[in-house]
Amino acid sequence: MQQLRSRRQLGVGPKPLVGVSLLLICAAAAAIVVQHDGAGPREAMPMARRPQAATLPPVHSAVAPLVQRLSTAQLAGQRIVYAYRGLRPPRSLLARIRAGEAAGVVLFATNVSSTEQIRAVIGELQAANASGPVHAPLLVLTDQEGGLVRRLPGAPELSERQLGERPNGVALAGEAGQGAGLNLASAGINVNLAPVLDVYRRAGDFIDEYQRSYSPDPHTVAALGEAFVKAQQRKRVAATAKHFPGLGAAERGQDTDVRPVTLNIPLQELRRVDEAPYRAAIVAGVQLVMLSWAVYPALDPLLPAGLSSAVIHGELRRRLGFRGVTITDGIAAGALRPYATVPQSGVLAAKAGADLLLCSAPSPEEDSPAEGIAVLQAVTRSLNAGRLNLSAAQQAAERVIALRASP
Ligand SMILES: *[C@@H]1O[C@H](CO)[C@@H](O)[C@H](O)[C@H]1NC(C)=O
Ligand SMILES: *[C@@H]1O[C@H](CO)[C@@H](O)[C@H](O)[C@H]1NC(C)=O
Ligand SMILES: *[C@@H]1O[C@H](CO)[C@@H](O)[C@H](O)[C@H]1NC(C)=O
Repeated sequence: MQQLRSRRQLGVGPKPLVGVSLLLICAAAAAIVVQHDGAGPREAMPMARRPQAATLPPVHSAVAPLVQRLSTAQLAGQRIVYAYRGLRPPRSLLARIRAGEAAGVVLFATNVSSTEQIRAVIGELQAANASGPVHAPLLVLTDQEGGLVRRLPGAPELSERQLGERPNGVALAGEAGQGAGLNLASAGINVNLAPVLDVYRRAGDFIDEYQRSYSPDPHTVAALGEAFVKAQQRKRVAATAKHFPGLGAAERGQDTDVRPVTLNIPLQELRRVDEAPYRAAIVAGVQLVMLSWAVYPALDPLLPAGLSSAVIHGELRRRLGFRGVTITDGIAAGALRPYATVPQSGVLAAKAGADLLLCSAPSPEEDSPAEGIAVLQAVTRSLNAGRLNLSAAQQAAERVIALRASP
């Protein structure tokens, strides 16, 4: 789950104006160009030769030679999502973005004082992006789930549970997805860390406590989740299905932000109940999947899902066929304390196959995205030392840059 902590600290959104965002998609898809340290030539494919959105794989292949030219820190940077405190992004964060060492920024609500202020912040972030080497928009992410968990005022106003209880829930979930898309796009935010696809078991349990689950029925969750994903992504805001392979069985208080959580769900039930909505969302084209920090002994007896290659490669990619971008939950989660330090957790998650590392704890100091930088440095060192597979890292960067080019 996105930490409740950060939920309270809430964030902001960027806004490629809706019209502009279409343009950005085109510009970005056409002009994903990488240069070293801003020194190289900017080669952009003319708009006329831009591949159609339907031919996304070619975008990947167009990205590949550019990824080869990234420095190790830039390659590591394509994995990092930063957070910050205060009303203005710190200069050190803007410097990382300019250097091409950032994939994106996650925004929290307490820092939104007005729509104009959010737009100005996002403009500043994207201006730093524009002078960076990866010529595609920066990812700007937030949690706009609906109901109680929203970083921006406005849509979607109903909670997932409220939608799931209505007879016309599928239509309403479509409206919620459209509303979230329009709302976030108007602020400049291009990735929503929603919808929650967890299938809750009992009223008031962990995921139902804040009404974040559509239903205890996997078919209902699948149908509403699919409607939300399609409608939101039609508004050019990427959706994130979470938290794979499912937190619906977590009881109240089994909060991975705070402590290790083990969910002893039999394999058959895990696949039939918890994973069912992911099959639907993947077929619907969901662009990101967020990994849970719980341990699922049926899939991997030792490691939390987000650190487990058996879960990410075996279950999500190989078995369910997901080709998009994988993202961790907040990397400083209490669930990881027994396994590694925060920077080392980033390395282990990257090694297991997490493309994006969500460094969402704002630093104690206002002027530094300290957690993101610590993870960036650890991943960079591991790449340099050969402890992380270079070609796997390049493939992750290709997926992330293709996503940056697409929202
Ligand atoms: C922004 O966030 C910081 C801490 O994260 C907080 O101290 C500050 O009051 C927030 N600003 C607003 C306008 O909410
Ligand atoms: C980010 O920068 C690139 C150029 O490097 C530009 O094409 C893209 O439009 C920028 N993104 C936004 C949202 O401004
Ligand atoms: C490194 O990653 C590539 C691409 O994912 C894979 O084919 C290769 O087997 C990996 N090498 C090692 C030593 O794990």
